[in-house]
Amino acid sequence: MVERRTPRTRREFMKAAVAIGSASALSACTERLDGGPDVQTGSLADVPERQHAWNAFLARDDHGNAVAPRHHVVALFDLAHDGAPTQDDREQVAAALDSLNRAYEWSNEGLLVTAGYSPYYFERFDDALSDAVDLPKPKALSPFEEPELDDPDLVVHLASDHAPVVLEAEEALVGNRDAANGVEMAGSFDGVLDRRERRTGFVGAGLPAENQDVDGIPDGDPVSEESPLFMGFKSGFTKNQASEDRVTIQSGPFAEGTTQHLSKIRLRLDDWYGEQDHEARVAEMFCPAHADSGKVEGTGESLGDDSAMDDCQNPADSATEYGRVGHSQKMATDAREDGSPIILRRDFDSTDGGEAGLHFLAVHREIGDFETTRKAMNGEQYTDNPAVRQRVNNGILEYTFVRRRGNYLLPPRSKRALPEPR
Ligand code: HEM
Repeated sequence: MVERRTPRTRREFMKAAVAIGSASALSACTERLDGGPDVQTGSLADVPERQHAWNAFLARDDHGNAVAPRHHVVALFDLAHDGAPTQDDREQVAAALDSLNRAYEWSNEGLLVTAGYSPYYFERFDDALSDAVDLPKPKALSPFEEPELDDPDLVVHLASDHAPVVLEAEEALVGNRDAANGVEMAGSFDGVLDRRERRTGFVGAGLPAENQDVDGIPDGDPVSEESPLFMGFKSGFTKNQASEDRVTIQSGPFAEGTTQHLSKIRLRLDDWYGEQDHEARVAEMFCPAHADSGKVEGTGESLGDDSAMDDCQNPADSATEYGRVGHSQKMATDAREDGSPIILRRDFDSTDGGEAGLHFLAVHREIGDFETTRKAMNGEQYTDNPAVRQRVNNGILEYTFVRRRGNYLLPPRSKRALPEPR
C-alpha cells in the first residue's frame, strides 16, 4: 500500500475512478456526486457532421482559448469476427453511438465522442480505402524510438468535464448498462466489438497536481495547482492550433472527416524539475528568447492566446547563441502553413500503469501532416551544433518517451458506424 501524502480530495477521487473504470467505480463516483452531475440530455440533430467539431461546444478561458474537457477515456476495440462487418453489425454500432448522443448534450458539460478506424480495419474489405484519405499504418517517427504499433479496428474517444459521464458512457457502450443519463440505450457494441484496451486521462488545473504521486514525477510535489499538464505549462493556445477547417478532409467519401494520430508518451520529469528552474524550463518548452524576456510567467497565462513564436529566433540561431532549442520553437518552422500549425492537439495527461504519461491525441487532414510535425520536433539538424544533442538541449525530448503509436480515420458522423472503404 503506497502511503499518500495528502488525503484524497474529490477531484483526485474522480480521476482515480476514471482510471479504474469499472461499474463499481462508477457507482462509487456517482454516489460521491450525490446522484451524479446534472447533465442535459442531447439530440442527434445537435451533433455536427464533423466528429472533431468540438471547439464551438467547449468552454473558453479568459483569453478566448478553447478549454479541453477535463476527463478522457480512449477505448480500443476489435471486430468480434473475421472479415468485413455486416449490415447488422453496422446498425448495432450506429444505434449505440446514436444513443450516447441522445443521452448527453454535445459539449464539455455533456459528452464529446469520436469513433476512428485504423488502416488494419480497412484491410477487412476487398476494396482499398479511398485514395482521398491519407491513412498509412503507424511506424516509428524518430530514429530514437521503438514504439509498439497499435492495430485495433476501432478507437472511441470519450471526453467530458464530468468523470461519471465518461465512465457511464463507456459502460453503456460496451453493454454493461441499459441506460445512460437516464436515457435507454437502443444498442451497444456487445457481441460486435470486443474492447481490448482502455486508456484514461485528464487535463486542466488541479488534476495534474493532485495526481503527481506516480513514477516519473520527483518527490516534493513540483507540479503546481495551477498547471493543466504535468510539465507545468498551458498548451493549445488558439493561435498555435490548426483550425478545425484546416484539419478537415476536403473531398471523397470521407469529406468532413479527419485523421487522428494517438501516441502514448511516457514522462520522466526528474531532471525537468530537479535540475532546471522555471527559466530553463521556459527555454526548453518555448524558446531561449522567451526565457530571457520573461515572457512566460507561471503556467503561461501571460501569453494570452498566442505563444508568440515570432519573438523566438530561428532554432538554428538559438542553438548557436544559447546551446539549446525550444520545443514549440522547432514546430513553428517547417510544420506550419500560412503562419499556423497543421495539427490540432487534443492531448491529455495520464497515470495509466502508475506512470506519468501523456496520451498525445491530435487530428489533422492527413497523417502526413502529423509526420511532418513530428519530424520538426525531432530537430535532428540542430545537432550540428555540439551543445545540442539528439535528446539533450533539444526541446523536451530528454523527458518524453514514445511507447505506442496508432493512426485512425474519423469519418463524418453519418459514416461513423463501421464504414465501407469507399
Ligand atoms: C509531453 C509532451 C508535450 C507537451 C507537454 C507539449 C507542450 C507544448 C506547449 C506548452 C506548447 C506551447 C504552447 C502552445 O503552442 O500550445 C507546445 C506547442 C506545440 N506542440 Fe507540443 N507538447 C508535447 C508534445 C508534442 C508532440 C508529440 C507534438 C507533435 C509531434 C507537439 C506539437 C506541438 C505543436 C504543433 C505546437 C505549436 C507550435 C506552433 O506554434 O507552431 N507537441 N507544446
